[in-house]
Amino acid sequence: MREPRSAYLHIPFCQRRCFYCDFAVVPLGDKADGAHSNSIAAYLPLLHREISSAPPGPPLSTVYLGGGTPSLLTPEQIGALLSGLDRQFGLAAGAEISMEMDPASFDQRRLTGVLDAGVNRVSLGGQSFDDAVLEKLGRRHRRADLLEAAGWLAQAQRQGSLGSWSLDLIQGLPQQDLSHWQNQLRQAVAVDAPHLSIYDLIVEPGTVFAWRQKRGELPLPDSDQGADLMALTSERLRAAGYGHYEISNYARPGHVSRHNRVYWSGAGWWGFGLGATSAPYGRRLARPRTRAAYGEWLSQAASQAGPGPTPGGTPEQGAPEPGLPFDELLMVGLRRREGVAMGQLAIDYGLSGSALASLRQRLQPFIEADLLLIEAARWRLSDPAGLALSNAVLRELLGWWDERSGPAPTPEAPRSPTHDHRSGPG
Ligand SMILES: C[S@@+](CC[C@H](N)C(=O)[O-])C[C@H]1O[C@@H](n2cnc3c(N)ncnc32)[C@H](O)[C@@H]1O
Ligand code: SF4
Repeated sequence: MREPRSAYLHIPFCQRRCFYCDFAVVPLGDKADGAHSNSIAAYLPLLHREISSAPPGPPLSTVYLGGGTPSLLTPEQIGALLSGLDRQFGLAAGAEISMEMDPASFDQRRLTGVLDAGVNRVSLGGQSFDDAVLEKLGRRHRRADLLEAAGWLAQAQRQGSLGSWSLDLIQGLPQQDLSHWQNQLRQAVAVDAPHLSIYDLIVEPGTVFAWRQKRGELPLPDSDQGADLMALTSERLRAAGYGHYEISNYARPGHVSRHNRVYWSGAGWWGFGLGATSAPYGRRLARPRTRAAYGEWLSQAASQAGPGPTPGGTPEQGAPEPGLPFDELLMVGLRRREGVAMGQLAIDYGLSGSALASLRQRLQPFIEADLLLIEAARWRLSDPAGLALSNAVLRELLGWWDERSGPAPTPEAPRSPTHDHRSGPG
């Protein structure tokens, strides 16, 4: 089993909780900043403690600072975390070091500071270019902030101080029709981010959006309209020179996120921080989602001899598996342009020829409709039709798996494989 060479650090602080978001975050108020926040000051030592008590491993080739809003931290705080990782594992030459930034939470000076501290890839949470939509999402930033932040990132990339950057947008928002979305895509192409993450809105239980939906106040596109939006996205962005390498991710040549690929590679990753999931050596470990519980969990781990909730997660936490469970691997793999090498997977997971034939039989309607393509033992969804209807295909696939081996997870798109707590990624 390969040793992990990637780490995810969770920074669970935001100024506000957006109306659609159920990530593990603590809203600190619109003026919050790492330089003055007691909550941030109390959390960082815990995070450092977890990093420094992880078992040693080879140098990291990707690091992802996600959240929450890591851009609330000062460059010094970011630099100290990267130094902690460097001390524990080492940072490989040319490592990709990504950080999520919210347009309302930083200025050009802070950007320069975090780039000087070692960050070389930024993921900007734009969500929408429409002020009325941003307001309804509960975002603090507005279109002008987004354009300004994108301008700083583009400038830093031109000047060579930033390797790459990405823009997040959400599609399938209330009242979004094709012409509104087309306009959003036009603006996304105009800011010229080398990488775009286009997430389909998920209405998460317990959010303001879920509450609005219950009251009939969330007029979302229906599933046909949603599929049309997704197909439009793929067509427009590919025509603009982006490769559609994963269901939600598009990149110009040379700008695919290396960290995103970790989830599939089977190598696993270290995860650190409240609410983070780690998966070194094929073992998954989700951490508590509140600061108190996370602190307690860390103390327990420190006092425990032998197998237990070891910081970072180690092979001793269970028998090493060949990687992710078969159904999860298929769910993630089929969202990627290259799909999955099904023949090899069947061998790796001990699936018999007749089991594979029965899965193929179950998915036959999708094969006949050219949604699922089978080419030389490689299975993949067609683009855009198959990817736009991926939920239907995955539901069938999980149903088949479920009947063989008990309940399976719901077919929900991981937003970011390494920090989504729900898919237990994303
Ligand atoms: C941790 S946030 C990004 C950084 C920063 N917190 C921000 O929002 O600007 C990761 C991304 O997840 C996406 N996201 C969060 N909740 C979502 C939901 N319920 N449905 C779809 N996308 C969601 C948003 O696009 C967001 O940019
Ligand atoms: S979308 Fe980003 S800024 Fe909004 S609550 Fe979630 S993590 Fe925080």
